[in-house]
Amino acid sequence: MILAIESSCDDSSIAIMEINSKKLIFHKKISQEMEHSIYGGVVPELASRLHAKALPNILKETKQFFPKLKAIAVTTSPGLSVTLQEGVIMAKALSIALNLPLIGINHLIGHIYSLFIEKEEIKPMMVLLISGGHTKILNFNGINEVCEIATTLDDSFGESFDKVAKMLNLGYPGGPIIEKLAKSGVNNIDLPLPLKNSSSIAFSYSGLKNAIRLIIEENKYKKEDIASSFQSKAIEHLIFMCKRAIKKYKPINFGIVGGASANFVVREEFNKLSKKYNFKLFYPKMEFTSDNAAMIARAAIEMYNKKLFTNYKNLKVLPRANFKKCKE
Ligand code: KG4
Ligand code: ZN
Repeated sequence: MILAIESSCDDSSIAIMEINSKKLIFHKKISQEMEHSIYGGVVPELASRLHAKALPNILKETKQFFPKLKAIAVTTSPGLSVTLQEGVIMAKALSIALNLPLIGINHLIGHIYSLFIEKEEIKPMMVLLISGGHTKILNFNGINEVCEIATTLDDSFGESFDKVAKMLNLGYPGGPIIEKLAKSGVNNIDLPLPLKNSSSIAFSYSGLKNAIRLIIEENKYKKEDIASSFQSKAIEHLIFMCKRAIKKYKPINFGIVGGASANFVVREEFNKLSKKYNFKLFYPKMEFTSDNAAMIARAAIEMYNKKLFTNYKNLKVLPRANFKKCKE
């Protein structure tokens, strides 16, 4: 079995997965959404202190599995350095105490593996990652074979939902709140489609966010109509750019991962796209869309099978991480 720890942002999570069967044996997560909610976003120092409390409490419940462990995995990058550090310290301590090899996992690759929990990998696959920190189109061909087709020039998809919710005084995280509110509103506000006149494949959400700020200041529209119009345009931009990538790379498999892959309107729109362009569509189970250690454990199994371990002295936190660009 592999024990995996995730603490890259505001979720403390530990999972244990069986290496051969990929079966999830143990999984627990403590979210800090409530604690950060009053600030309208994650406060790194507070998050770090909450991880320091939550992780040991979860770890206590896993003691019975210690004799069966073959490796310790942990998210090392990207994320908030002070929160990543909490998981990495625990992983190092466990690796020394139990004399087990260490595996460092890239959180974004972890999100891709949320598609393969208790399953085999499906590859090649084009993956749209939509989370609070990232908006990327990636080509996945295995654990260390991921390249980037597109990324955001400014804000991420989930972040724009968080910021709009904050401007409307609705709380955090904004994604589910905006999605729910949009259901009772209508898409009646004319908003700009980001990067409409650019020929590249890229994302941008700050212009749309600013347009919403001006709309709110106008004080003319209902909150639910703002939510509906914003969500429609944010998703239209996703679809617009993914269509470009699909036409160019002609994927047979397409996965959507990250916290915002829980959005039903996103899922509906991509269902239509998959019929039109004839690709197979994959989503994680709802419980694995947001940050969790089960996906980290699943990715770690691939690393374990390839013996890709890191000495504890070399295991470092890297707040930022870049993928190589895909070949044109
Ligand atoms: O993957 P995740 O849990 O954490 C990061 O790695 O960032 O994603 C969290 C993000 C937040 O920005 C949240 O607002 C967004 O995902 N999100 C959503 C929805 N549910 C969560 N965005 C849009 N619609 C949703 N239903
Ligand atoms: Zn994430």
